[in-house]
Amino acid sequence: MTREIIIAPSILAADFARLGEEVAAIDAAGADWIHCDVMDGHFVPNISFGADVIKAIRPVTKKVFDVHLMIAPVDPYLEAFAKAGADVITVHAEAGPHLDRSLQAIRALGKKAGVSLCPATPESAIEYVLDRLDLVLVMTVNPGFGGQSFLESQLEKIARIRSMIGERPIRLEVDGGVTGDNAAPVAAAGADTLVAGSAVFRGKSSADYAANIAAIRVAAEAGRVPKLQDNSSRPMRAGEGVRIR
Ligand code: DX5
Ligand code: ZN
Repeated sequence: MTREIIIAPSILAADFARLGEEVAAIDAAGADWIHCDVMDGHFVPNISFGADVIKAIRPVTKKVFDVHLMIAPVDPYLEAFAKAGADVITVHAEAGPHLDRSLQAIRALGKKAGVSLCPATPESAIEYVLDRLDLVLVMTVNPGFGGQSFLESQLEKIARIRSMIGERPIRLEVDGGVTGDNAAPVAAAGADTLVAGSAVFRGKSSADYAANIAAIRVAAEAGRVPKLQDNSSRPMRAGEGVRIR
């Protein structure tokens, strides 16, 4: 199944004093999605921003808001993030005992549902919720901070999840330490959606960000498995892949 590569810059690495301008800059630089990392200082050892900040930057761009919730509990806050303008809402499998319920709640709010797995969590955690998913996010660092090194151990997990997904219209996203240097093996393992924070927000201008995004995209496209490359020149068929906006 052909899926175009999506690059989702994480605004965790943006200059928070100029957050609206930074979002506009990555939009102009060719970001496909805007990745919003929400941290609570409880599920992860860092605090970032919440629904009000997402609501404030929502009018700046029409791009998909990909909201990664690193919070526990998560269920009481889903509606607030939906109302703030999230398009995709991703919860952690480790964040609570009722993942199936959380995923149903996200879809009931009219949003795309994602689940994220920390590096130590096996892919079996999502075996019985696959049909409730629009996205699986494999963490390639321990969540909580930008700028960490990519964990190679996760490439095997990415490949296993790619085969579990089969023909389902589920995006496979990778988050943490992604750069132009490792985007090829990440895509070769089966990822189609790449989050990058520090590798995108290098330099100052939108032109710098555009070059950074392009470097990751080119590497990922080159790394795509042959089956995907062979099909990449033909147009997408109706209903193929996951097109979120
Ligand atoms: C980590 C976050 C990531 C992170 C990515 O907890 O979920 O989105 O900010 O940043 P880099 O690309 O710098 O690892
Ligand atoms: Zn993230």
